[in-house]
Amino acid sequence: METNAPSSTGLDCRGLVKNYGPISVLKSVDLFLAPGTCVGLIGENGAGKSTFNSLVAGVVAPSDGRMWLDGQPYEPHSPSDAIQRGVALIHQEIRLLPGLSVAENLFLGALPMKAGRIDRRYMEEKARAVLATLGVRVDPRRPVLGLTMAVQQGIEIAKAILRNPRYVIFDEPTAAVGETEAEQIMAQVQKLKSEGVGVIYVSHRLDEVQELADEVVCLRDGHRVSRWTERPVPKDEMINAMVGREFTFEHHPPSPSRDKVVLEVRGAGRSGAFEGVSFDLYEGEILGLAGLIGAGRTDVVRAIAGADRLDRGTISVDGRDIQFRSPKGAMKAGIFMVPEDRKGQGLNLDRSASENITLPWEKKLAKFGQITGRRVAEVGETQKDRFDIRGRMNLPVGSMSGGNQQKVLLAKWLVEEPRVLIVDEPTRGVDVGAKMAIYKILRELASAGMGIIVVSSELEEVLGLSHRIMVMSEGRQSGMLSREEAIPERVMSLAVSG
Ligand SMILES: Nc1ncnc2c1ncn2[C@@H]1O[C@H](COP(=O)(O)OP(=O)(O)OP(=O)(O)O)[C@@H](O)[C@H]1O
Ligand SMILES: [Mg+2]
Repeated sequence: METNAPSSTGLDCRGLVKNYGPISVLKSVDLFLAPGTCVGLIGENGAGKSTFNSLVAGVVAPSDGRMWLDGQPYEPHSPSDAIQRGVALIHQEIRLLPGLSVAENLFLGALPMKAGRIDRRYMEEKARAVLATLGVRVDPRRPVLGLTMAVQQGIEIAKAILRNPRYVIFDEPTAAVGETEAEQIMAQVQKLKSEGVGVIYVSHRLDEVQELADEVVCLRDGHRVSRWTERPVPKDEMINAMVGREFTFEHHPPSPSRDKVVLEVRGAGRSGAFEGVSFDLYEGEILGLAGLIGAGRTDVVRAIAGADRLDRGTISVDGRDIQFRSPKGAMKAGIFMVPEDRKGQGLNLDRSASENITLPWEKKLAKFGQITGRRVAEVGETQKDRFDIRGRMNLPVGSMSGGNQQKVLLAKWLVEEPRVLIVDEPTRGVDVGAKMAIYKILRELASAGMGIIVVSSELEEVLGLSHRIMVMSEGRQSGMLSREEAIPERVMSLAVSG
């Protein structure tokens, strides 16, 4: 390939290499993207997908290799340089500035001016229009702080589209959103394609890749290991290429739960968020919480875990009422929650993976008042093995791939074993192999007697994992289904019934 002249149209990447010191992350990767087409980029966590994207979008410089854009040499020195040339990246991790308004975030770096002042009216109108085409309902004047991940993701996409790019890279755009939003994002990709924009689409949701991509490229350990140019690309072929071995999707039924109630929730309500939530969670049970984005699932679990105030109702663990209304109080009672937002609430990206894991436990792990570096490393290594974390535990967790960060987050809350474990979107951005590993861990924890609540926007995940499924709609509990009753159509109709 290297000897051929670059194509006169399209984004042509050849032999891209990225090394971080002695570590080689990307090893001579070729990729060609024609206008009006979509290349699906797949691979396990840590395979190098985001690294590839950041080379193309000018975030970091390649260690070797060359790129051409429509026949011209292309060496972006910065993201704004790349945008100037028509290449935009929608990052895997949301990077909006929470203190600024939605509109300000959208126009950051390119604020429209009129007579020497920022043209707010134009900005807000334009923001409204582009957000509407994406189906994102939010007032452009309000601050980003407090918006859900799904809305923030929509804003990131709107921001890229406002720059009128000719090539757009979507790095796991649907990882943080529900089915409805995911469909809107996919419709947007189709629209861009039809307008002649070239799209690189990264996702662990292989259905989406199958639907959107005209060509699929698979990375493994920084190598391009497979490429398919005929659609549809069979899912099992994609999975096998990603993990490098035969892989079968197994859905093990969870072992039966026991008769003992571990968590009892009665008449729980929080003004403006949810009302009338009552349920029991049994020892050994996995209870799935299904519903559309905004149905109040996260609100309910946050209140149970003491992160938000409860206005009404009671909660008890093993028959004892919980009076404390703080995460610490909940933890004392044996309720732990792994939050959905790994960057905001979950991890300190500048500290090492091991330090992140031991942080909440320092007092307990300390021998003589102070925890030693050795102890931190030991606990880190134990959790690394248990959760199959790929990456160095003594490096800042921010340098790990997204999926591995998710595993670190889970590992952090499972140094000690709670009575009730709440996981909110536990496999967001996690590859198929790691996903199975996380499911296995959750099942094992349950069969050891823990009660587990799983919140997930992926219906398949809720149905595959849970003994029972509680469906929520507009802040109310709209149904409680057994595993057998919970066929997807039934769950969806309860989720929208309101
Ligand atoms: N600044 C850095 N220093 C050292 N290693 C890095 C750095 N940035 C990334 N890496 C490593 O490069 C590898 C590839 O990471 P990358 O984020 O590209 O994976 P990915 O395919 O996007 O994974 P995911 O599906 O989890 O998002 C990982 O092993 C990661 O730890
Ligand atoms: Mg990535």
